[in-house]
Amino acid sequence: MRVLGIETSCDETGIAIYDDQVGLLANQLYSQVKLHADYGGVVPELASRDHIRKTIPLIKVALQQAGLTGSDIDAVAYTAGPGLIGALLVGATIGRSLAFAWRVPAIAIHHMEGHLLAPMLEENRPEFPFVALLVSGGHTQLINVMAIGQYQLLGESIDDAVGEAFDKTAKLLGLDYPGGPALSLMAQRGQVGRFVFPRPMIDRPGLDFSFSGLKTFAANTIRNNNMDQQTASDIARAFEDAVVDTLVIKCKRALEQTGIKRLVMAGGVSANRTLRAKMAESITKIGGQVFYARPEFCTDNGAMIALAGMIRLKNGVSDSLDITVKARWPLADLSPLTFTSLHKST
Ligand code: KG4
Ligand code: ZN
Repeated sequence: MRVLGIETSCDETGIAIYDDQVGLLANQLYSQVKLHADYGGVVPELASRDHIRKTIPLIKVALQQAGLTGSDIDAVAYTAGPGLIGALLVGATIGRSLAFAWRVPAIAIHHMEGHLLAPMLEENRPEFPFVALLVSGGHTQLINVMAIGQYQLLGESIDDAVGEAFDKTAKLLGLDYPGGPALSLMAQRGQVGRFVFPRPMIDRPGLDFSFSGLKTFAANTIRNNNMDQQTASDIARAFEDAVVDTLVIKCKRALEQTGIKRLVMAGGVSANRTLRAKMAESITKIGGQVFYARPEFCTDNGAMIALAGMIRLKNGVSDSLDITVKARWPLADLSPLTFTSLHKST
């Protein structure tokens, strides 16, 4: 069986085709980053218009890449939320219409479920249950993943998401939107310990996060220092180290609290190299295992939506003709599924 996946929740048009026997047959991504860079952030109306321009041509390219036509597709999965309403409506409308024309099921996917299942696109797949750290531009959450569709929120950010904190601090350092990856590169040249940023909320019990204070701390540090290239790198380093330490401490606490040994990291920020290395080191030390996808499947992509669609298709999920998209959509609102094996060999 083959599922076409469509991702248009924010500023990336992602299209992929997933085959339950072979794996990914096609994966196409168009990033709108350049379009939004002049504005310092995503402009929703421009995002919707660009998705309209790019979605259908990219679906054609994906079908060509896989050597398939529409009649070879068994279901169409599209991101139905959370995200920008106009952007979501583009993928949902195109996805729903194609499914109608091809007489196959249409499957509405939760964007964050797509992220947390993305490590299953890799050889080394986690078993259930696991704890998921979801770290993206809009979310910072710790989730107890008991089974597919059975999600319990353990903790989340009470203010800025971690990706947002990266992007805002990067902007203060003069880097273009989205500055997370650029800040991380800069941090590699930074001197450890010249500046020390606080590790927010680690002294308090519980699994919630707060990142807005770090951005303010960065703003004050920038104001109080003569800024040259080295100082900027040192500040980037201090910021990244504080974020990574905080995430590692909270993830260790989540594993201890739940008694679960497996940790999945997902979402754009999980592409961060320092975070991957430090998390793996600390979690291995306490006898746990860390799973994450390759960087291109950590940031927004169509492959994770096609995969989530395949899992739902195999569980008999098929959504009605209605097109419903949601700007906000708690993961805990999803219903549990009986997970069926995706591949012949497993
Ligand atoms: O998951 P994602 O692609 O989109 C959302 O659903 O939000 O995440 C995008 C976020 C941005 O804030 C971006 O700066 C951040 O992920 N990001 C990174 C890195 N790569 C992406 N942050 C830090 N280090 C990275 N290497
Ligand atoms: Zn995302």
